Amino acid sequence: MMKSFKLQVLLITLLMYAPSSVAVLNCTGSDVPSLVNALQPVFNLSSIRPVTNASNPVTVDLIFTLTAILGVDEKSQVLKTYIWRELTWKNEFSVWDPDKCGTEWIAVPRTLLWEPDIVINEFMEKNTAPPVPYIYLHFDGDIYDSQPIRVVSSCSLDIYLFPFDIQNCTFTFNSYIHVMDEIQLLLSGTGDEMTEASKMVISTMGEWSLNKITANRAEIDTVEGNIYVELQCHISIRRHPTTYVVNLLLPSCFLIAVDLFSFMLPPKKIDRSLFKMTLVLGYTVFLLNTNQMLPITGDTVPLINVFLSMCLVMMVATLVESIFVTNLLHGSADYPPAPRWFRDFVFQVLGRLVRISTKSIERDNTVIQNPNAQEMSDSSPVVTKNDISEEKETLNENKSVQVLRKINRDLKAIHLQVEKKLKRNLSSQEWIYIALIIDRLLFFFYILFISVSFITILIIWVVSYSKA
Ligand SMILES: *[C@@H]1O[C@H](CO)[C@@H](O)[C@H](O)[C@H]1NC(C)=O
Ligand SMILES: *[C@@H]1O[C@H](CO)[C@@H](O)[C@H](O)[C@H]1NC(C)=O
Ligand SMILES: *[C@@H]1O[C@H](CO)[C@@H](O)[C@H](O)[C@H]1NC(C)=O
Ligand SMILES: *[C@@H]1O[C@H](CO)[C@@H](O)[C@H](O)[C@H]1NC(C)=O
Ligand SMILES: *[C@@H]1O[C@H](CO)[C@@H](O)[C@H](O)[C@H]1NC(C)=O
Repeated sequence: MMKSFKLQVLLITLLMYAPSSVAVLNCTGSDVPSLVNALQPVFNLSSIRPVTNASNPVTVDLIFTLTAILGVDEKSQVLKTYIWRELTWKNEFSVWDPDKCGTEWIAVPRTLLWEPDIVINEFMEKNTAPPVPYIYLHFDGDIYDSQPIRVVSSCSLDIYLFPFDIQNCTFTFNSYIHVMDEIQLLLSGTGDEMTEASKMVISTMGEWSLNKITANRAEIDTVEGNIYVELQCHISIRRHPTTYVVNLLLPSCFLIAVDLFSFMLPPKKIDRSLFKMTLVLGYTVFLLNTNQMLPITGDTVPLINVFLSMCLVMMVATLVESIFVTNLLHGSADYPPAPRWFRDFVFQVLGRLVRISTKSIERDNTVIQNPNAQEMSDSSPVVTKNDISEEKETLNENKSVQVLRKINRDLKAIHLQVEKKLKRNLSSQEWIYIALIIDRLLFFFYILFISVSFITILIIWVVSYSKA
């Protein structure tokens, strides 16, 4: 229906170019065999351009409809599409009188008539679409030729914004050897008409949707002074990103979120690094699995690869951080005390920054520097000396006092032990607090870095996606 309508439009436009003086074929009867008979001399002329005066050009009108987008191959930079190419031109030898010959139209094998050598310059492979062996012949000499073509065309693909990319590929139609004086190539429709027609018939699109077709005609001067005509059709297609968002971006975001939440695990009680190691392992397996979804190219690195690598790098970085913190928490008993300036800086500046109070450490300090305890420890050697002398002198002393003295001695020994342990504990405690403060600080940095980079990438994607 649509095609026949278009055909009529084409023919009407063609009639305007029709030269006035052409030889009319003589039919012997008004049936098809006599018409074919009359057409025999025309068929014998199939190898030459169908013009009576060689200085007249053949006007070829071209229009095409995109019927399928089969896909793109990022690695070899090709676009695979399926198009219907419609050509109309005038054969000045095959004009007959429909009243005398009985028919206005006849379909003849295309090998019997001359055809323009219109090619797509970007063609990379042989046309594998089923051949259409017939072309239509109109009584006034117009020839209508429609052919499906499976176009594998080279196209410079820009996949930086993958999977939110829009590709702009060009089909350049021209006659391979004829110059403008011989074949005058014209577009018989605007880009918008082609877009509309294509959107109506397009079936297979895969992950692509047709955005727009724009077309223009260019005349190119050669060094020999000839002019070649080119019809440049720019096909803009847009990728459907849903598959990639669901299969690549969302899982990565979830894993990063889990990694973030793992900072809530109490570092003193649970070894976070084991948990994070599992996450990194899981993410690596995920990346291996989804690797074939990503486009492979030589030069540009798509933003999504940067995103995925960044997720992995962040996970590894937090794993290293957890190992560091775990080391400080569990291995700090053997460390020498932290340098005073460092401790002060961490406690006073960073501690306040991340709102971890160091009061409990100060309390520990006060236990040690308790005046009573100090007194006790100071007096202890004296007491011991007294104790020995008295023991020697008064053996018959009251038993209960003796018992009390013994208890006092034992208590002092215990106190000394506890004090030594506490001192060691204090340095360890300081390291633990330093670890906690650094952990919290790095967590904040981590959140800051992740949000800034994610928002940047998101903005680039959103802006580029809404632009076209
Ligand atoms: C057709 O016949 C007319 C005379 O009837 C003749 O003048 C003309 O040349 C013929 N045309 C062709 C193509 O043979
Ligand atoms: C067409 O060419 C063939 C030979 O290729 C010849 O036998 C035939 O007579 C020609 N027909 C006409 C109408 O000239
Ligand atoms: C052929 O066409 C050219 C220009 O269109 C004209 O000058 C010339 O006279 C024509 N020749 C004949 C034989 O009609
Ligand atoms: C595609 O690129 C060509 C130039 O290479 C440009 O003229 C045309 O406007 C572009 N089309 C779209 C839809 O961006
Ligand atoms: C010895 O202990 C008894 C009670 O067991 C007590 O009455 C007495 O006063 C004590 N003697 C001295 C010298 O403290």
